[in-house]
Amino acid sequence: MCATMGSARGFMKISSAFLTSKSQLPKPRRHQMDTLRNARAVSSTPFPEFADMPGIKSHEDLRKFSLEQPDLFWGKLAESRLVWQQSFDKVSDCDMANGYIRWFLNGKINASVNCVDRHLKDRGDQVALIWDKDEPGTEEFYTYRQLHTMVNKMANVFKQHGVKKGDRIAIYLPQSPMAVAAMLACSRIGALHTVVFAGFSAEALAGRVIDAQAETIITADQGVRGGKFIELKKTVDQAVEKCSCVKRVFVYQRTGGDVTMGKLDIPLDKEMSAASEECEPVMMDSADTLFLLYTSGSTGKPKGVSHSHGGYLTYTSVTFKHVFDYKDGDIFGCMADIGWITGHSYVVYGPLSNGATTLLFESTPVYPDPGRYWETVQRLKLDHIYLSPTALRSLLKSGDTWVQKYDRSSLRTLGCVGEPLNTEAWEWYYNVVGKKRCDIIDTWWQTETGGICISPRPSDPGAEIKPAMPMRPFFGIDLALVNEKGQVDEGDDVRGALCIKKPWPGLATTIYGDHQRFIDTYFKPYPGMYFTGDGAHRKNTYYQITGRMDDVLNVTGHRLGTAEIEDVLDDHPATAETAVVGFPHDIKGEGVYAYIVLKDGISTPFATLDVEMKALVKNRIASYAVPDVFQYTPSLPRTRSGKIMRRILRKVAANDTDQLGDISTLADPDIVKVIIKHSKKAKKACDKK
Ligand code: WTA
Repeated sequence: MCATMGSARGFMKISSAFLTSKSQLPKPRRHQMDTLRNARAVSSTPFPEFADMPGIKSHEDLRKFSLEQPDLFWGKLAESRLVWQQSFDKVSDCDMANGYIRWFLNGKINASVNCVDRHLKDRGDQVALIWDKDEPGTEEFYTYRQLHTMVNKMANVFKQHGVKKGDRIAIYLPQSPMAVAAMLACSRIGALHTVVFAGFSAEALAGRVIDAQAETIITADQGVRGGKFIELKKTVDQAVEKCSCVKRVFVYQRTGGDVTMGKLDIPLDKEMSAASEECEPVMMDSADTLFLLYTSGSTGKPKGVSHSHGGYLTYTSVTFKHVFDYKDGDIFGCMADIGWITGHSYVVYGPLSNGATTLLFESTPVYPDPGRYWETVQRLKLDHIYLSPTALRSLLKSGDTWVQKYDRSSLRTLGCVGEPLNTEAWEWYYNVVGKKRCDIIDTWWQTETGGICISPRPSDPGAEIKPAMPMRPFFGIDLALVNEKGQVDEGDDVRGALCIKKPWPGLATTIYGDHQRFIDTYFKPYPGMYFTGDGAHRKNTYYQITGRMDDVLNVTGHRLGTAEIEDVLDDHPATAETAVVGFPHDIKGEGVYAYIVLKDGISTPFATLDVEMKALVKNRIASYAVPDVFQYTPSLPRTRSGKIMRRILRKVAANDTDQLGDISTLADPDIVKVIIKHSKKAKKACDKK
């Protein structure tokens, strides 16, 4: 039986049922800038837990202590920052060689209790979430008490429909309080969530659902972004056709748009309005998996990076507080979508475990115009903003007037993440956006690291911050640069593969369903250490990231495996083989360049093929994965052993053909000239579009 959801009148929209109007709310407590600055100037170490410890007088002392006594350091923090149902009896048991990572052994904990219940007594009426909806000025506020009700109700609905501890639930929702409630409701009953960015295609969603063997999907009728409606339910319907594992789809009514409700579909809002407001949280073992999040690797298949309740929560909670110097009452504005790790750690778990007020930004940096971020800062009086270098570069291009139009005096920290922040963008952020008043916090980390590992803070307040580098390892993070001989290089002004020598609580625990891949990817390349996949440069003890060392691209701050795109392009009936590389891109950081060898006898015009291939990538992965340049070539440069020499393809894509290095090992060195010649035409064709 099918029902049309949008036309079901009398349906209470869950968002309005839980909504608190701005005027009903006490304004979140805010700190005066002067008080803050004075408080910062006198603090000796940032952690009260270690204030009375002999020998720890400065940040530097604490950093040393955290590396020498990691169990004491993390144990004390986990105990004091989180609520445990049962204390742990051992801080860590890790063996990096086998990818065995366990933190806070035998501790019992639940993430939803730490993010919501524990705050009810002291800050139940404080705003937990500010939902900055797509249309500016239509924001909604949700207190901790309201969020608690939503989480409990949703958890009860899940239970009524047979969702159990250990089940995987795919969340395909727009940035909204319902998405946060869904994540926390999963954790409340011990189900593992896997959030899939709501811009992914049906095929990409299906791949993740199948890999996780998720029986449940949570979605919405439609999403709204940049004034456009996104047909989420329809995409889920297409995905479900490919997934025999799915038994139920909960549908949240975000827009009230018409959707067809099929046999598996359950109206989430309606069920929640009838559900009980109390749901006993399941106490989880600290090492139990809290969530999986799929990310690209160097093969075609994304990997389900898994994080634990106790370790992940400790690390995100501590880093959130200290990297951004979050003070009680501040409003934290992370612009990332919850579909990425940044949204998990610094929109949801880090802020909420600290009892913070966190922003859920539904729109885009350019809607309705390139002043949107700064208008949001003025309207909501954000203290912190955390965004991507790609967004910053595109706003920089739009000019200073969009920034200057709005009052940004509430801002104290300007953060960024996801890709290298180039000097020009850093300076614009510092001089124009922050008017030289705010700290620029360039943070380096990864889906696998759970939280921020390198950033200018914490450090002594007033310590220098250098442009365009994340600089300092976080407490307990033991970085190493490994040279080409596989040796740790202790020197100054050196480059190498960025590794982390000791485990830390935020480190992922496995790749879902493929522990061997976890070991092979992260712990085999440099035995005894975690390999990040990135290269870095260290000078005067400060770190700068030089980029990926594997076949992973970083496009608009999102990871993309070149193999993932090649797999899709190879499926076009006209292609014989393909090679995808990255090239420097002014705005996106890295662009996607596809070299394509066509099958014999193909006479379709290149322009038509471009359109078809673009559509293919968009439909199979997502729009951000669509190549910027297509170059059709008679063959690819291969070594005599048959390996594609990607170095050459990267250089051609980057217009850096003066020094191609040794090409004598190529089976056919002449192909290089042909590729260079054709590249000019290919780039011109793409510039025209
Ligand atoms: C890159 C995002 C330079 C890096 C939180 C890393 C960065 C990948 C920075 C992880 C930075 C992240 N400077 N590069 N500040 N931050 N990266 O898993 O290549 O989506 O390995 O996590 O982004 O991307 P992921």
